[in-house]
Amino acid sequence: MGTVTILDEGKIIALERSGKTLRFHAMWLRDNAWDDATRSSSNGQRLIALRDIPADTHVSAAHLSSDGKLQLTFAPENKTIGFDAGWLSAHAYDGRALAAPGWVPETTELWDSGLMNRVPIAELPALQREENVLAGWLGEVARFGFGKLTGGPIEDGALFDVVDLFGYVRETNYGRKFEVRTEVNPTNLAFTGLGLQAHTDNPYRDPAPTVQVLYCLESSAAGGENMVVDGFRAAHRLRAENQRFFDLLATYCARFEYAGEAGVRLQSRRPMIELAPDGELIGVRFNNRSMAAAVDVPFDDMADWYAAYRRFGEIIDDTAMEVTFRLEPGEAFIVDNTRVLHARKAYSGTGTRWLQGCYADKDGLRSRLAALQAQPEPTS
Ligand code: FE2
Repeated sequence: MGTVTILDEGKIIALERSGKTLRFHAMWLRDNAWDDATRSSSNGQRLIALRDIPADTHVSAAHLSSDGKLQLTFAPENKTIGFDAGWLSAHAYDGRALAAPGWVPETTELWDSGLMNRVPIAELPALQREENVLAGWLGEVARFGFGKLTGGPIEDGALFDVVDLFGYVRETNYGRKFEVRTEVNPTNLAFTGLGLQAHTDNPYRDPAPTVQVLYCLESSAAGGENMVVDGFRAAHRLRAENQRFFDLLATYCARFEYAGEAGVRLQSRRPMIELAPDGELIGVRFNNRSMAAAVDVPFDDMADWYAAYRRFGEIIDDTAMEVTFRLEPGEAFIVDNTRVLHARKAYSGTGTRWLQGCYADKDGLRSRLAALQAQPEPTS
């Protein structure tokens, strides 16, 4: 069952269960109370602000019952609140070691061309019909940053059916959706028959779109296979090869710009490898077409920054990193645009290739996934 001990004049408690001791601060516990006066019982939102909790809050009494219920009395409020020891264990912060910059959560699985044989794939009608199929596929998209769909309708706007599975379209100056096919007067290189280097889309936006959907409506031209690369894996490879290269791309901002149409001048300033303040790898931006002049790299580091940029590109171009697949009409793929780079191989001018693309956001995708995974409330 365990024990609870009051430490540091009640500023801290130590909870021992199954031989493991976890410390919690009285302030943290009081702020995370789930009683009806602290949290709304209907929507879970906190009803008080930190200013409503006395700064000298401490635990004056503590009792752990055999069923895992912890009763804590907080002074000077003289308020007794029940906590579930299991919830506390699941939300413990004691003993967490800082990981090396570039770390990723356990829920993220990095990949290379070896993923070719187990690309996350599902049929659109099954995803629309079966919540467990949707949960499984969204879970894989969240884990790998990429997934494929088959069996969709071959009709204009069908890509919105994909977004409807988890969220909402993010409209931009390219419209609610954009066409990807050969055009005589391209305003953007994506609309020509050239092969493209693997890239993330729209790094010149702030924030950049976090999800992209590309949906195939026609595909009779030879070539034009789609290809994806795990940018997080590429960043890890760069770090393993040359820590300084990794640090340079994570430290200094690049500049990105798109001004390819009248009235538009999109600009951003972000690093190619983005880390959270605690070092978590949270984003990759890589797009040779929209790189603007880098002006945020100190003169003495510019030569090495360019060497790092070059090497990062070489890693991204390495065929050992890529997963390729062909999209047939009614098929689509989805990428986490903050992580996975995509590209198209060159295709011939005969025949047609018509894809429609749109953007969406991964907070919606993660929300849908988490809601599907959530355990039903106990009925007792
Ligand atoms: Fe693209």
